[in-house]
Amino acid sequence: MRIAIDGPAAAGKSTVAKLLAKELGYLYIDTGAMYRAMTLAALKASVNLEKEHELVELANDTSITFQAGTDGQQEVYVNGINVSKEIRDKDVTNNVSIVAKHRLIRERLVAMQQQLAEEGNVVMDGRDIGTHVLPNAEVKIFLIASVIERAERRHKENVENGFESDLETLKDEIRKRDQLDSEREVSPLIKADDAIELDTTSMSIDEVKDKILSIVIQKENEEGKA
Ligand code: CDP
Ligand code: CDP
Repeated sequence: MRIAIDGPAAAGKSTVAKLLAKELGYLYIDTGAMYRAMTLAALKASVNLEKEHELVELANDTSITFQAGTDGQQEVYVNGINVSKEIRDKDVTNNVSIVAKHRLIRERLVAMQQQLAEEGNVVMDGRDIGTHVLPNAEVKIFLIASVIERAERRHKENVENGFESDLETLKDEIRKRDQLDSEREVSPLIKADDAIELDTTSMSIDEVKDKILSIVIQKENEEGKA
């Protein structure tokens, strides 16, 4: 069973995907972490993020790998260094959509994602999983929530972690990233025709997780009867 979860920033994809994977005993694959790792490497190397060939050259010299951490979380390594925390930095967040628009970079990371999915049952989250990475996924979910709700979620998360945070700035950053991700030429953020859309604006994390779980169980039953 392959479960694809797509949607805009802070819709709850990774939180819910992790819980689902844990409950089902599936592998969780965070594709956003791959684009973030590439962005971190590019920022560190002072590569011009608009120049695809410079990014490709850097990618040729950069190893991006994944390992399950002790708590089952996916840990991300760039050239052997664990960057799982650093890839969440503001600078990476505000530049990742520029790196993610380049076709050759996407092709490379999509190949890695498809290879990882061959290992068995997976929950994979991102922007183009249902449309492009796993077009034949058995379950496709498209999570959405209002911009204000998503900014408030991120704000709360920042405050809880002791980071500086401004709600209005977060709203602007989320809107900008949504726009870049939705309007890019290659694999834009878009709901797959056969994805189930869930508006999570007034849903708790557990409600979203349970709803998706019921969709998965229904699908399993259907496949069992087929
Ligand atoms: O967690 P959050 O929604 O903030 O972002 P993420 O899932 O870590 O993804 C970071 C960025 O990577 C997105 O804004 C997209 O630009 C890009 N991305 C993508 O283009 N395709 C994917 N499958 C996953 C992420
Ligand atoms: O992966 P994505 O960017 O879509 O979102 P996330 O990082 O999973 O969730 C963003 C924040 O919203 C996290 O702090 C979650 O705990 C929170 N959240 C929530 O409050 N209610 C939900 N239904 C889903 C997520």
